[in-house]
Amino acid sequence: MPDAILEARKLRKEFGGLVAVDDVDLKIRAGTFHSIIGPNGAGKTTLFNLLSRTLDPTSGTVIFRGRDITHVPVQRIAHLGMGRSFQITNIFPNLTAFENIRLACQALGRDNFKMLNRAGDFKQYEERTWAVIQQVGLSERATMIARSLPHGDQRKLELGMILAADPEVLLLDEPTAGMAGEQVPEFIALIQKVQKDGNKTIVLVEHNMSVVMHASMVITVMHQGAILAEGTPAEIAANKTVQSAYLGGMQW
Ligand SMILES: Nc1ncnc2c1ncn2[C@@H]1O[C@H](COP(=O)(O)OP(=O)(O)O)[C@@H](O)[C@H]1O
Ligand SMILES: [Mg+2]
Repeated sequence: MPDAILEARKLRKEFGGLVAVDDVDLKIRAGTFHSIIGPNGAGKTTLFNLLSRTLDPTSGTVIFRGRDITHVPVQRIAHLGMGRSFQITNIFPNLTAFENIRLACQALGRDNFKMLNRAGDFKQYEERTWAVIQQVGLSERATMIARSLPHGDQRKLELGMILAADPEVLLLDEPTAGMAGEQVPEFIALIQKVQKDGNKTIVLVEHNMSVVMHASMVITVMHQGAILAEGTPAEIAANKTVQSAYLGGMQW
C-alpha cells in the first residue's frame, strides 16, 4: 500500500500567461482529513480540478492509489473511488432529498453497486439510499423537495450524493460557502464523522483558516499557485511564514 492515496507530482496549470498551479508536489495520506487553505485566487480550486481530472494539467502527474491517472477520463474517476463536490450546489432542485440520493446511488455506483441494475435490485438501492440519508442526518427531511431544504441541508444532501458511490477519497471544495455561520461547525463535524466512521480520506478546500483548524489532521497552505506551508494545525498555527502572510499583507 503506497503511503499516499492521492499525489500530485510537479503538477502545473497555466491559463494563458497566468500560472494558477505552479509545479505543486502534494501527498494526501489515506484516512486523513487534509485541508487545503489559502486566499482567493491561490489556486486551490484549480489544484482540486487537476486532482479530480476535471482539468488537464499543463504538465505534471496525478497518482491515485499508486496508479498514474493523469490521462484517465473524468467519467472514470468516480468508479475508481474518488468523489468530488463543486463550489456551487449540484443537486436536482425539483426532486426530493431521497430521490436525489437514490439517483446518485444508481448513477455513480462503484463496481460493487454497478451490478445492481436489474429491477429486482431496486430494494437494495432503496436500502443504500436510506443508509446514506441517515448518515448525513436528513432522515426527517427525506421526502422534502430539495430546493425547499434550508441551504445547510442542501449541502448535506450534496455530501450524501457524493457518499452514495462509497468513494475512498472525498474532495470537497468550500462546502461551507454561503452557509450561515452557526451551521458551519455542525457541517465540519459531519465531515469529520464521515471520515472517521468510514475511514475515508477527506481533501477539503477552504479559504477560511479558522473553519478547518480544529478538524484537520494535515493542513496545506497555498499562495499564488504554490505551497507555502504544510503540517498539523498546531504546526501551521506556529508557522512564521503563515503567520506573517495571514496577519500581514496577504488578502484572505
Ligand atoms: N478557467 C480559467 N481561466 C483563466 N484563469 C483561471 C481559470 N480558473 C482559474 N483561473 C485563475 O487562476 C487563479 C487561481 O484560481 P482558483 O484556482 O480558482 O483559486 P482559488 O480556488 O484558490 O480561489 C486565479 O488567478 C484565477 O483567476
Ligand atoms: Mg476556489
